[in-house]
Amino acid sequence: MHVFIADGPSEVASFVAQIIGKTIFDKTLAVLCLPTGSTPIPTYKELVRMHKEEKLSFANVVTFNLDEYIGLDKDHKESYNYFMNHHLYQHVDAKPENVHIPDGTLPNDKYEEYCSNYEKQIVEAGGLQIALVGIGRTGHIGFNEPGSTDKDRMRVVHLHDVTIKDAAGSFGGFEGVPKTAVTMGLGTVLDAKHIILIATGKNKAEIVKKFLEDEEARKSPTDCPAVYLHEHEHVTVFLDKDAASLLE
Ligand code: F6R
Repeated sequence: MHVFIADGPSEVASFVAQIIGKTIFDKTLAVLCLPTGSTPIPTYKELVRMHKEEKLSFANVVTFNLDEYIGLDKDHKESYNYFMNHHLYQHVDAKPENVHIPDGTLPNDKYEEYCSNYEKQIVEAGGLQIALVGIGRTGHIGFNEPGSTDKDRMRVVHLHDVTIKDAAGSFGGFEGVPKTAVTMGLGTVLDAKHIILIATGKNKAEIVKKFLEDEEARKSPTDCPAVYLHEHEHVTVFLDKDAASLLE
């Protein structure tokens, strides 16, 4: 695992966008796993800039998003479908058939089949070359909350109270936040060739320390699922100074 500490979020974004851009330039087909949240916004902004100013084309890019809230329509302002269109897809030339964002609107009994089909589509695309992920304050990757394991595949999950609290501001309070989500499993993320984890800001400093330096957490990774990333042979972590501020 390689850890880089950048000055701030925009430097993190420019490193990560360079890596993603290079993969897109180099591959005939680039298969990416993408997150939402506040952390990747500067990276998407930089990718959009590279598309507009440096002719970075998304025509041969296949993307699979990590997760989506259950119960939100795709055009709901807090849905991850809306987020991705708003921050990335409406600005670049990705082909709609190559963009996969989990659907949060299905009836409960449809998710088993839906999730195994999503996983199948990843395999049929040739597997994830890069999984870009953020980290939640519970140690979640995607919505793989404590209790998740490295064997988990895509499924419907319950969100941790800390995660719900962190989202409450955008939903007019705790009660308004969806309590369940559909998420790629950690097993799916760990199948990616290269995992890039990004974390910025002081509010991530504690969980970043736990993820990178806490020996106890390493002994029981299910309590802080990000710790499972230590099993993978090609993980790059980009932090800004604030997120890295508690590291030894
Ligand atoms: C979102 C996702 C989550 C976020 C994490 C950090 O698609 O998968 O795991 O990456 O909750 O969110 P931010 O970036 O908002 O701090």
